[in-house]
Amino acid sequence: MDLQRKYTCIFVCVFLGENAVIITKSFMYQVSSEDIRGHADEDSGILKDEMFKSTVIQKPIPENDNCPKMGDISDWTLQCKYNCRAINMTFDSPSRVQLVPVCDQDKGYLVRELTQVTDSTPVLQFQHPCIRTFLRLNCSSNFPVPNIVHYVWYNMRPMRFYHFLSVYSVFKIQKPCVIFIHGDFMPTGEYWNFLLKIVPNILFLQQIPPVEIANKTILHIEHKTDITRLNVLKEYGGIYMDTDEILLRTLDPLRKHQFTLSKAFDVNLSNGLILSARDAGFLNIWIKAYDTYDPNKWGYHSTIMPAKLSKIYPDMIHVENKTFVRPDAGHTKDLFQNNFDWSNNYAIHLFMRYYKKVYSLTSIRTLNCTLGTVARFILFGHKELCTK
Ligand SMILES: *[C@@H]1O[C@H](CO)[C@@H](O)[C@H](O)[C@H]1NC(C)=O
Ligand SMILES: *[C@@H]1O[C@H](CO)[C@@H](O)[C@H](O)[C@H]1NC(C)=O
Ligand SMILES: *[C@@H]1O[C@H](CO)[C@@H](O)[C@H](O)[C@H]1NC(C)=O
Ligand SMILES: *[C@@H]1O[C@H](CO)[C@@H](O)[C@H](O)[C@H]1NC(C)=O
Ligand SMILES: *[C@@H]1O[C@H](CO)[C@@H](O)[C@H](O)[C@H]1NC(C)=O
Ligand SMILES: *[C@@H]1O[C@H](CO)[C@@H](O)[C@H](O)[C@H]1NC(C)=O
Repeated sequence: MDLQRKYTCIFVCVFLGENAVIITKSFMYQVSSEDIRGHADEDSGILKDEMFKSTVIQKPIPENDNCPKMGDISDWTLQCKYNCRAINMTFDSPSRVQLVPVCDQDKGYLVRELTQVTDSTPVLQFQHPCIRTFLRLNCSSNFPVPNIVHYVWYNMRPMRFYHFLSVYSVFKIQKPCVIFIHGDFMPTGEYWNFLLKIVPNILFLQQIPPVEIANKTILHIEHKTDITRLNVLKEYGGIYMDTDEILLRTLDPLRKHQFTLSKAFDVNLSNGLILSARDAGFLNIWIKAYDTYDPNKWGYHSTIMPAKLSKIYPDMIHVENKTFVRPDAGHTKDLFQNNFDWSNNYAIHLFMRYYKKVYSLTSIRTLNCTLGTVARFILFGHKELCTK
């Protein structure tokens, strides 16, 4: 018994010894809310090089000297290939760095802790008093829109590849102070576990889906998430992302506006990516407009209504010209078959619900279409195809 414990200790200590390096490196990612960064730079492929040495089998190396450089998004010939890194989702690591809220009574702040991979991730209830305190202490900002990111995750289900890609894109490109996942049940599955290992600042906030608004029963789960995203932005401000929205460059230039949406089509605005100050004026007007909510009208209050309101209150909202959602829902071929030049986009919406095929960390390496260029840009730092 004693002997066994002794051996366990040695085993753990050895790993902790190794991990001490990992931890120091992961602190290279600073929790700075004003960290202005553009496109991914040279060495920012997944898992900062030395950070997880054991999993990095190879560095991405271009096939020849004429290949577009790492991070180049001006050349769209897609002729050159790169030797891409292998990513092992199940690499051995007994511990991870995790942002943990410390709450007592009405105080709260965040600490970075080394936790066991098997430890549960912290869960707080939405609107717990501690959250506002630690956001003020740890995530304050000079911009109206704080650098915090929100996702809404309803129903118990495993995380898929593109969800992983979305959260990882935000982590890597926006470098937010905190990434909140608001949901009834925590995501599950291998992509979620992998995400927790490599992204230290994810916090799960529990919230039961709303059942009604303005005395009308909400029928569709999509409408529930439509309403929840507005409520969380009212409470905390920040950046709301759909789980199939991938960030391609920093949103910092837009954080100076109180409220920002992007056109989806000429008639409506997308609610798949929203920047909002806490309790923003436009947000309150939009929420009030749900008084006339009709559960049977798909997309009316979530996309047509904000477009109408933006015409009435143009000073309260900044409207982007489709830079969050090109290609639009009518051109999904440009996502899954063609190569769309997204260099002018802030983000791209994958409209995964129109597409049944399952993608993975492996299949996107040689996928010659927009989804492939986007995924490789986020994971490896270049959009070029991988040799295999
Ligand atoms: C990934 O890592 C695990 C644990 O270290 C190992 O068992 C597995 O063989 C690795 N997979 C690949 C494809 O290298
Ligand atoms: C958050 O702020 C508190 C109080 O200033 C500080 O002790 C703590 O280290 C901060 N946490 C992080 C992760 O920066
Ligand atoms: C909801 O119903 C209550 C009670 O019947 C009523 O007072 C309230 O005005 C209604 N709210 C809306 C938005 O219709
Ligand atoms: C916007 O309007 C178009 C055309 O009416 C519609 O197909 C689409 O579902 C609406 N919503 C979004 C988010 O594009
Ligand atoms: C929006 O962008 C499109 C090109 O994508 C351009 O044709 C159009 O003129 C722009 N509209 C405005 C209002 O800037
Ligand atoms: C990838 O697709 C583009 C067209 O979108 C094509 O021009 C290019 O040759 C393809 N690359 C390879 C390596 O097949």
